[in-house]
Amino acid sequence: MVAVNGETAYEEHCSGCHETGMLGSPIAGDAADWGSRSQLWDAVLLDHAITGYLEMPAKGGKADLPDEVVRSALEYMLRMTFPDMPHDCNPPYCGDSQE
Ligand code: HEC
Repeated sequence: MVAVNGETAYEEHCSGCHETGMLGSPIAGDAADWGSRSQLWDAVLLDHAITGYLEMPAKGGKADLPDEVVRSALEYMLRMTFPDMPHDCNPPYCGDSQE
């Protein structure tokens, strides 16, 4: 398996919308923008990122993206936005977290 770099994955597949708030997407790094969403479990947010949610296209519109890439991109986004917040690690999603 290829090691997935969250930053690279985010830059390549998510930042196009989530850096600017395009289409009403929550802006990465803007905690207020993510405020109510972050109260959902990370696993729920991941599910939405993979299957799509309202204006959020499934996998950012790239249907062939491996789930693992979406997961690490999302984790990168959430950690950028909430550096001090513990993120829930519900297996299997965070099972391989290095922390
Ligand atoms: C084409 C633009 C676009 C791309 C690319 C995109 N998103 Fe989004 N995303 C959105 C929009 C718009 C929303 C807001 C959805 C809404 O609430 O209507 C959103 C919302 C989300 C949410 C919050 C879902 C919720 O439950 O509130 C997550 C998580 C998310 N995106 C993750 C990602 C990840 C991870 C990637 C990269 C793999 C990505 N997005 C790429 C547009 C995009």
